[in-house]
Amino acid sequence: MAEATQNIDALMAEERRYPPDPEFAAQANTPADFYDQDPDTFWEREGRERISWFKPFDTLKQWDRPYAKWYLGGKLNVCYNCVDRHVENGQGDKVAYHWEGEPADDRLDITYADLQSRVVRAANGFKQLGIGKGTKVCVYMGMIPEAPVTLLALARLGAPFTFVFGGFSADSLGGRIVDMGCEYLITQDAANRRGTASALKPIADEAMSKSPNLKSCLVVRRTGTEIDMTEGRDQWWHDVVDGQSDDASSCPCEEMDSEDMFFLMYSSGTTGKPKGIVHTTAGYLTGVSTTHHYVFDIKPETVYWCAADIGWITGHSYIVFGPLCNATTSVMYEGLPDFPDKDRWWEIIERYKVNVLYTAPTSIRTHMKWGAEYAERHDLSSLKVLGSVGEPINPEAWVWYRDTIGGGKTPVVDTWWQTETGMIMVTPTPGLTTLKPGSATQPFPGVMAAAYDEQGKAIPAGSGAGYMVIKEPWPAMFRGLYNDDDRFRETYWSRFPDAYLAGDGARVDEDGDFWLMGRIDDVMNVSGHRLSTIEVESALVDHPDVAQAAVVSRSDPTTGQAIVAYVTLRGDQQGSPEKLIELRDHVGKVIGPIAKPANIVFADTLPMTRSGKIMRRLLKDVAENRALGDTTTLADPAVVQEIKARADAEASKED
Ligand code: WTA
Repeated sequence: MAEATQNIDALMAEERRYPPDPEFAAQANTPADFYDQDPDTFWEREGRERISWFKPFDTLKQWDRPYAKWYLGGKLNVCYNCVDRHVENGQGDKVAYHWEGEPADDRLDITYADLQSRVVRAANGFKQLGIGKGTKVCVYMGMIPEAPVTLLALARLGAPFTFVFGGFSADSLGGRIVDMGCEYLITQDAANRRGTASALKPIADEAMSKSPNLKSCLVVRRTGTEIDMTEGRDQWWHDVVDGQSDDASSCPCEEMDSEDMFFLMYSSGTTGKPKGIVHTTAGYLTGVSTTHHYVFDIKPETVYWCAADIGWITGHSYIVFGPLCNATTSVMYEGLPDFPDKDRWWEIIERYKVNVLYTAPTSIRTHMKWGAEYAERHDLSSLKVLGSVGEPINPEAWVWYRDTIGGGKTPVVDTWWQTETGMIMVTPTPGLTTLKPGSATQPFPGVMAAAYDEQGKAIPAGSGAGYMVIKEPWPAMFRGLYNDDDRFRETYWSRFPDAYLAGDGARVDEDGDFWLMGRIDDVMNVSGHRLSTIEVESALVDHPDVAQAAVVSRSDPTTGQAIVAYVTLRGDQQGSPEKLIELRDHVGKVIGPIAKPANIVFADTLPMTRSGKIMRRLLKDVAENRALGDTTTLADPAVVQEIKARADAEASKED
């Protein structure tokens, strides 16, 4: 905590203030008394008005700590709310997605009516394969139209799913398939990545070979890359789906209970094994659609772009379910921001006259590094609101975002939330909040956030940093960890008896505004992606040459944090540049390329306490190039000095 506090002191010196623009405020979705509402009245009203129920709920919530239930007794279907009802309400011609493929000119406007046809055909195809209410399905795809179509079709059938980010390895994918007990996998041949095809199906094949419950695999042809199809198990999407009926009545939406499991999203925790975060149906949908409406000030004509990947919670909540529930027109982009050139995003914004852009600080900092000239080539005057998510945003990036991308006029909403929270929790609303670069400002109505001290008392506003906690349940709150009640209670509910422990440090200033300071546990945040130190350590020691590994993160000007690994090799092997590449690739293979360490330092031994624990704190000091902290509990203090000398020598070589 001490170290995070040093950073926050610098941040709190930030004195720029941006009150809402009166013209914007006058047209904003938020009423003047937005923050004065009674939470239960607010969520009751949003639940009744934002969702079309097959059967209305009779009880708003039930709180049996640590388990919450919301909208009890209600029956609904997410796909009906996101697609069918908009077509029935005469919005069939409205564009749901301006889909933009990576290859230039590969574009598709998908209206709500088109989306319904595609979803109904897919759902009929899935049914033919044997997928029905309660069947568990894994989805492993990139940003292609079939990704949202698949999720909506599964929602239509009432089949719970887990969507695995396309950058994960066979081991990571297989682990999730087995943990959830998935019987089906839906994937694609390969994904477009900077002009080349990056194969997904071979990774899926390897994952499936270790997943005994898996019955069949459906494959979308995206790139035409040659892949193996296993007879009797694998089928092409176009063979199964294309010939199906697209008449909505041929595949009615299943009636689901408010509390039926909707999906699992696996996320890194503080141990090696990712945890299956459980989201249910009605609370999740209400939470994401409500926050989407107010935080981004969504109007019927808004063109909105969340430039995340559907494989993360941000994509689930704010590319698929929130925006579609609100009948919003979104942009969805398949590729990378620098293909074919570094102005691709700005070209897309100009073409579709995008009003809202939602992205991560890492992307903003990357664009800053590339230079303003790429944005200046394009007319970005359509932008009205800019959003940030996934990591703390430094004031410099915040101001660059507002000035260079937003023309010095757009509000920037820094939204703090987590896979566990399902929805945005602490955020400005652009028509009401005075913005401060670097602060996520205010809890959303009905979110009871606080910073607790060590004793579990709320730290008074303006007087120090503490543990970010939430004291009352909220609708999109996760309903536990899949098949792991013990870990759920231990991770989130054991530190304080009366509050959810988020795992972040936070400070509340004199105005009651929140400043999030990053993780205070063994979770790293690299480019807005969550990874656990122990997961990366396990991947390293899985290599036959590695005896021991310790992983920490250091600050990085672009990616927020970067991974540094300290490794001892077996026998008398010496580290070498080739070994370094080999180990990085190995981590990439075990977890996925996002987990590759930025640096690997080879050491003869790692600093251990007398009780045999690796002293990560000291390694972090080395990684951050700081003076070494207290070494008195070390078994052999010379070890860490030796590592520091090696790390310094490496660093001077790089200079
Ligand atoms: C971090 C992503 C500071 C935080 C939606 C949290 C943030 C973790 C912010 C969750 C923000 C997310 N300011 N930190 N605006 N948003 N974080 O589960 O450490 O992938 O605990 O969810 O990201 O990451 P996750």
